[in-house]
Amino acid sequence: MLFSPRGGTYWFMRNFWPPKSLVLLSCLLAFTIYVPAQSAGMSADEAHRRAEALLKQMNLDEKIGQMNQAAGMAIPGLGGGKPDDLIAKGGVGSVLWLIDVKEINRLQHIAVEKSRLHVPILFAFDVIHGYRTAFPVPLAMASSWDPSVEKAAQRYAGQDARAAGILWTFTPMVDIARDARWGRIVEGAGEDPYLGAAMARAQVRGFQGQNMGPDSVLVCVKHFAGYGAAEGGRDYDSSYVPEELMENVYLKPFHAAAEAGAGSFMSAYMDLNDVPASGNHWLLTDVLRNQWGYKGFVVSDAFAVASLQVHGFAKDPEDAALKGVTAGLNMDMASGTYVKNIAKLVSAGKIRETQLDAMVLPILEAKYKMGLFDHPYVDESKVEITLNRQEGRELARKVASRSMVLLRNENQTLPLKKDLKKVTVIGPLADSAHDIEGGWTVEGLFGGGGKSHPVTVLAGLKAALPGAQISAVPGPIPGKVFLGMVDQFSGAKAVAPPTAEETTEWISKVKSAAADADVVIAVMGEMASMSSEAASRASMKLPGIQQQMLEAAVATGKPVVLVLENGRPVDISWAAEHVPAILEIWFPGTEGGNAVADVLFGDVNPGGKLPVSWAHTAGEEPLYYNHNLTHEPEDRPNFTSRYWDVASKPLYPFGYGLSYTTFKFENLKLSKARVKAGDSAEVQVDVTNTGSVAGDAVAQVYIHQRWGSASRPVRQLEGFKRVGLKPGEKQTLTFALGKDELQFWDPQTKKWVVEPSTFDVWAGEDSTAKLHAELTVSD
Ligand code: NOJ
Repeated sequence: MLFSPRGGTYWFMRNFWPPKSLVLLSCLLAFTIYVPAQSAGMSADEAHRRAEALLKQMNLDEKIGQMNQAAGMAIPGLGGGKPDDLIAKGGVGSVLWLIDVKEINRLQHIAVEKSRLHVPILFAFDVIHGYRTAFPVPLAMASSWDPSVEKAAQRYAGQDARAAGILWTFTPMVDIARDARWGRIVEGAGEDPYLGAAMARAQVRGFQGQNMGPDSVLVCVKHFAGYGAAEGGRDYDSSYVPEELMENVYLKPFHAAAEAGAGSFMSAYMDLNDVPASGNHWLLTDVLRNQWGYKGFVVSDAFAVASLQVHGFAKDPEDAALKGVTAGLNMDMASGTYVKNIAKLVSAGKIRETQLDAMVLPILEAKYKMGLFDHPYVDESKVEITLNRQEGRELARKVASRSMVLLRNENQTLPLKKDLKKVTVIGPLADSAHDIEGGWTVEGLFGGGGKSHPVTVLAGLKAALPGAQISAVPGPIPGKVFLGMVDQFSGAKAVAPPTAEETTEWISKVKSAAADADVVIAVMGEMASMSSEAASRASMKLPGIQQQMLEAAVATGKPVVLVLENGRPVDISWAAEHVPAILEIWFPGTEGGNAVADVLFGDVNPGGKLPVSWAHTAGEEPLYYNHNLTHEPEDRPNFTSRYWDVASKPLYPFGYGLSYTTFKFENLKLSKARVKAGDSAEVQVDVTNTGSVAGDAVAQVYIHQRWGSASRPVRQLEGFKRVGLKPGEKQTLTFALGKDELQFWDPQTKKWVVEPSTFDVWAGEDSTAKLHAELTVSD
């Protein structure tokens, strides 16, 4: 026999492949014998050639099988089970929600040894911000304004995942989130398409590596598209997004990810302009394939093909399968609708087999590209070694501290001195190991957690202050009125709010512990399950009795530092006036507590910036900086505010964040005052560290087109750089303003245009930067 049953090659084929005679031989044998395998990280052309050859050998059921992603385990309330029989028949292309390595290998053996063509399974899971070692949640990593750290974190996460048998991650989530009520804001890069695109590229490159080698995983860019615009911020609700807003805002990070080589996309759940995204031909074919020339494949979100019927879009499951395939959806996640209905549709002549070929081909190509035919199994002996690498902890600590945003620091309350004798730590998040890692952790979700040994803020403080007396008053754990999907997995139970007596008791404990301390550190915000999927909120208030505890601590007159742990901006209007120091840490991951200590004690100078506009209250949402002017701009005398009860400017603007030092931006210059449409000008700005400690500045460049064929946003980010500066050090930073930055999708001509106009250009520390120049674009 020429080829090994696993699809591995004999040594001479590995070493001398591909001599012409063997290529010819394999073509001749293509109809009877399994296609030869390859080494990891195969070129796109070679993967294409082999996938085509394999496809030619497949019968209809095997093709449909590749389009089927089966659940690897039963999910309470959602079904699923052991897919062994279907795998043996070649009826499963991918398996999701499985992290037990032995089970992964067992199923892979069935696929590779028992199925007729031995096609390996693509095992998939949500590796969102780390596998065992959790990195900060994506919203936090975006707050670093440093794509290189997000790339490094996701590279590491991908290596862990691959070693543990996960080949495909449902990451990055690149949905623009302009509404903090939407729970999934925590999973993305915030509100801005430019920052979002940079973080999307970084994640694709991190996970997939240079060429999808044996330590890479395939990414899945989600949720295509418009999911973040859910009405009222309610997860899964319909989105109504005009084409121009899709093109100019919502699609941009998706396009960036596609251009960076993302191997797959996930279609979203919701209706986009009345057509469910998973059956939306405009999205999946017109934009993705035709406009962008995308060659990867698209999987639906979980059960989304079956849900086409629930939406009232498909008549029955057969119609749902037809609508999915016709729209351009390659793979059905978990609903089994494709596998049960496509064959009927082919016999009825409603779907052509050649249509299916086009859908299956990129799935097979991906399997070849990642070397899966050569290395289908997990080396079980290496899993724990890989997952417990110490370098991951170090990286996680660094990424976490780079992601933190200093929101307030009156009278230089921070950094704290290390000679503190008595510290009181209050708040339910102070010592919660589960919450510090944030939601969507692989082992936390499906493996029971417990293996990563997360460092809570309390533990981090204790490690940093070994000689101090540290007391903790956690207060009651706040609960949700309605439990969500993730609570179902974790088995969380509804938490009753504390009684009046219990509340009084907690408050008096806070008062006495605070009165006895040199400093009070309040670790407050939202529990991890209060954001992410199916976890939207109508209010942004600190849940439970946290606000009362905070006020009680401040009333003692002791210095209070609020360390915010949360997945979205929360209502801290009171704290922003009364608490001298506020540090936003989001959910900082496994090393979060140590990273908090690094920042609080000044070993790391915070340099993170907000990737969202921070509202005072939920009633302002959706709130974002890159809105249009309107005929009554908000700073006019008559109509100073769009609300009469709250300022329409955010509490903290997009791009904002303090440092323990200060920076001066000056000498904003353009290389040319006028350019022809299509040409570039260079923007130059000097930034100097004017304080006494080293720190990171994030230079941000914003533009505004003054007139044209459409109204343009008051400002839009078109460049940023995070730079470290020593005290007194100055750097001159340059940015390009050319076609990519100046163009927009014109709703009148339905084209991308650079128009003759005058552009305002600002550079500075956040989206309110004042340093200004003008650029004229002519025909
Ligand atoms: C549903 C979520 O919307 C999606 O983000 C996730 O990747 C899939 N489930 C798979 O777990």
